[in-house]
Amino acid sequence: MAQNIVILTGAGASAESGISTFRDAGGLWERHRFEDLASPEGFARDPVLVHRFYNQRRAQLRAVSPNAGHEALAVLEQNWRGGFLLVTQNVDDLHERAGSRRLVHMHGELRKLRCAACNAVHEWQDDAGTDTACPACTRVGAMRPDIVWFGEMPYHMGEISAALAQADVFCAIGTSGVVYPAAGFAAEAKRNRRGCILYEVNPQPAAHDLFDHAIAAPATLGVPELLRQLGIK
Ligand code: APR
Repeated sequence: MAQNIVILTGAGASAESGISTFRDAGGLWERHRFEDLASPEGFARDPVLVHRFYNQRRAQLRAVSPNAGHEALAVLEQNWRGGFLLVTQNVDDLHERAGSRRLVHMHGELRKLRCAACNAVHEWQDDAGTDTACPACTRVGAMRPDIVWFGEMPYHMGEISAALAQADVFCAIGTSGVVYPAAGFAAEAKRNRRGCILYEVNPQPAAHDLFDHAIAAPATLGVPELLRQLGIK
């Protein structure tokens, strides 16, 4: 019988592409705490600063490329016979650029802006600011990064929960497992009635023993090894 797989990726999946992870970097950007840059309160306090932070990260996407880990996940998707869902906490577009198609961005995307007035979401490649007008409702000053900030509800939770309930295999790749709800996905998959097998790819494996198989390697080596262990060439 075909098996269903759910993959969860975090900042570690993009680390070798040159995008620094959050907690490894000490959680600071230009001496600002990450919480001040990634929260509705921080945006209300200083929207210019927050736009600058995300403009810089959006611009950085042009300078980086998918790595062998992203590419291996696209190969896995193409060769997997059962249900497949890639859930990423990353806001970059490296999975798409590597060829992944069945993926959801639970924390939003750098290359999208959302209008806080009319809720329309727009693809966005360039800088944004407090003087940016919404292309839909024309309101100026209501555009924000389409990023799920601290205290906000992650996207696609219904689809993710449904996939976890049916998962036979779950893999966590490059995520520290400290930010909920994603941190609870491994346990949620383990609790389903399908005897889900759990894999982890991380150079610093989790301290708990929830995972059945830990591949202690960076994503560029660890994801190809994961494919070998799953029997995908
Ligand atoms: N390959 C695989 N894993 C790696 C690599 C690598 N080359 N380098 C580092 N890691 C691992 C680290 O050991 C760590 O466990 O990646 C993880 C990165 O952890 P975090 O920086 O906490 O990133 P993440 O788990 O994605 O954070 C979750 O927190 O701040 C929020 O919204 C933000 O989506 C983010 C969420």
